[in-house]
Amino acid sequence: MSPAWLWLLGAGILPSVHCQPFPAHGDKSLGVPQAPGDQLSVPGTPAYHKITPTITNFALRLYKQLVAETSGNVFFSPVSISTSLALLSLGAQADTPAQILEGLGFNLTETPEADIHRGFQSLIHTLDLPSPKLELKVGNSLFLDKQRKPRQHFLDTIRELYGAFAFSANFTDSATTRRQINEYVRKQTYRQVADSLQEFTQDTLMILLNYIFFKGEGWLRQQHCHLHHLQSCPWKPPVLKACSCSSLCTDTNFYQTTS
Ligand SMILES: *[C@@H]1O[C@H](CO)[C@@H](O)[C@H](O)[C@H]1NC(C)=O
Ligand SMILES: *[C@@H]1O[C@H](CO)[C@@H](O)[C@H](O)[C@H]1NC(C)=O
Repeated sequence: MSPAWLWLLGAGILPSVHCQPFPAHGDKSLGVPQAPGDQLSVPGTPAYHKITPTITNFALRLYKQLVAETSGNVFFSPVSISTSLALLSLGAQADTPAQILEGLGFNLTETPEADIHRGFQSLIHTLDLPSPKLELKVGNSLFLDKQRKPRQHFLDTIRELYGAFAFSANFTDSATTRRQINEYVRKQTYRQVADSLQEFTQDTLMILLNYIFFKGEGWLRQQHCHLHHLQSCPWKPPVLKACSCSSLCTDTNFYQTTS
């Protein structure tokens, strides 16, 4: 079987006016080694090549687990889940980053942490490149409880490597926060995805959000699928759940396979 990525037609979150972003910081001194200058455009092996086999294996392992628990269609985005968890590992301490990355299937002896993050940076960059035939937007956001003060270093690093923005949120006021987050999703998905985040408990400390918006020219129409068939996804933060949207398309699927 050739390596395959399963893309999620997903809900989107982007920074907007309602939530207050944590202040940007001019200092670019990051602990994680940065890709030197123009590495992404240097001919040769792109940095994401070091991580895609692991993501593929992760996809297959997760798929196996999900189908064992679910009857019906299983719909998830391994790229989104692995990206979010790798991003999260940047904010963890002691053994936790290694445990998160090993949980995704990385062997840190073979692929050091810095290479993994550079791989994700390169993958996100590559997915964002414009294409005449399809529209693909990828993004990450983080909503953190107001009481938590993330380190500036973490905020700088996730922005630099993952293009991710962090916002502070008041999870005690769950109705307002939920409305705000859902509004971002709607904006980012051309109002096609509403009420994506249905509930979270008041003891939520953080919501990790990732979106991949995919629109292929003529492709969706041929498949008789429309974006508005996207069902709300039963995310239950803070546990990251795979999104399973069973009514998407009954006899076709939304997966695009690339190798
Ligand atoms: C990680 O890679 C090293 C070097 O290839 C190998 O010796 C080790 O057994 C691997 N660890 C695991 C858990 O697979
Ligand atoms: C968060 O929301 C709760 C409930 O509306 C409110 O009582 C509290 O003052 C808010 N906290 C902050 C820091 O805004």
